[in-house]
Amino acid sequence: MIGKLQLVLYIAFCTLCSAGVTAPDLPDPSRVITDVNTDGKSVFYSGLPVPVPVVENLNGALFRLGYITERPPVSINDETDIDFYEASLENLPPLVPAGGGPAVWYIDTPPNASSPLHRTISIDIVVQLQGEIELTLDSGETRLLKTGDLTIQRAAMHAWRNPSLTEWSRMIGVMSEVQPVVVGNTTITATLPTAT
Ligand SMILES: *[C@@H]1O[C@H](CO)[C@@H](O)[C@H](O)[C@H]1NC(C)=O
Ligand SMILES: *[C@@H]1O[C@H](CO)[C@@H](O)[C@H](O)[C@H]1NC(C)=O
Repeated sequence: MIGKLQLVLYIAFCTLCSAGVTAPDLPDPSRVITDVNTDGKSVFYSGLPVPVPVVENLNGALFRLGYITERPPVSINDETDIDFYEASLENLPPLVPAGGGPAVWYIDTPPNASSPLHRTISIDIVVQLQGEIELTLDSGETRLLKTGDLTIQRAAMHAWRNPSLTEWSRMIGVMSEVQPVVVGNTTITATLPTAT
């Protein structure tokens, strides 16, 4: 959180600050996990920190892994799934893990930043949580997504751009690998943005 004084100073000097001052990034979200204890009572799992930290920076966009499971239907006995998530935080999976288990990513895009065009062979259920983001497809079609808006992305070649010069954008994407996607006689392939 920035204080009122800092905000006033930021606004006052912002015309001068295009190169030097950047908007503060968004705070770590809280992620709580429930469990059922040996007495059969439902409780909150306490084995992982509640704030979700940034684990990857792709072209300035900050990625946090909110959860991930193995190929469904998963076993949650003996906290098998939580162990898998914890291991994945240590040893990061690709954006879309193989096998169709969903990866839940928080994706924060800085003001006036954009991703390169990319495609994953997946269904991505993307909810805009904060700020706005513009989604452009390789056809040139574009849509502006606002807080609460939902995108069902089906292996599209796409780029994200935050049109705001001052506000970060936060979205959450639940990404699951799909069967090979055939267009005409060609199986299309993933084109991934690379880490910077
Ligand atoms: C916003 O981004 C564009 C494209 O990278 C750049 O040309 C422009 O200078 C940026 N605007 C500001 C205010 O930083
Ligand atoms: C797909 O392959 C078939 C058989 O080789 C061919 O007849 C057809 O024209 C192809 N279609 C396209 C869209 O390339």
